[in-house]
Amino acid sequence: MTTAVYPGTFDPITNGHSDLVSRAALLFDKVIVGVAASPGKAPLLSIDRRVELVREVLADIDNIEVCRFDTLLVDFVRQHEATVILRGLRAVSDFEYEFQLAGMNRRLAPDVETLFLRPAEQYSYISSGLVREVAGLGGDVSEFVHPAVQAELKRRGC
Ligand code: COA
Repeated sequence: MTTAVYPGTFDPITNGHSDLVSRAALLFDKVIVGVAASPGKAPLLSIDRRVELVREVLADIDNIEVCRFDTLLVDFVRQHEATVILRGLRAVSDFEYEFQLAGMNRRLAPDVETLFLRPAEQYSYISSGLVREVAGLGGDVSEFVHPAVQAELKRRGC
């Protein structure tokens, strides 16, 4: 049984993230979506709300679990007896950061592999930050996020 962890801040979860999880769920026995506290990013949504939204958005996928974490990613991975870290590569611009992250994680945990998946082309330019910015300036984000996320952003005056 191979368990993969898909970590991120998910502030908020976008259709790009969901697309990636759907693909991963077909490849692995179990996918754990790890919602990072990421205090350094000063997230707009609380960790509780981010977890709730991820659960709601991904409710139709059976072999996933959604958990929060505020530890080292590799410790979280080991705690769940996973062997794979999944990350999405949207464009070449993601590569440098992801290369560093994967290198550090390999150094910390040589037995854990980082694998990259490509989200569908139509999601290659979406990021949580852009979604927050567009919603905050009154733009329509319905194409980029689940209705529950859109409603949450609206409730917050975004
Ligand atoms: N579709 C849409 N957007 C995507 C995406 C996809 N498939 N994949 C990534 N993104 C976006 C995110 O929305 C985010 O956008 P934003 O910066 O505008 O908010 C950006 O790409 C990358 O963020 P995210 O995927 O949330 O990851 P992150 O960089 O915030 O988090 C962690 C990275 C959580 C994996 C990392 O910080 C971590 O491991 N933290 C734990 C502590 C630790 O172990 N640190 C040492 C690491 S070596």
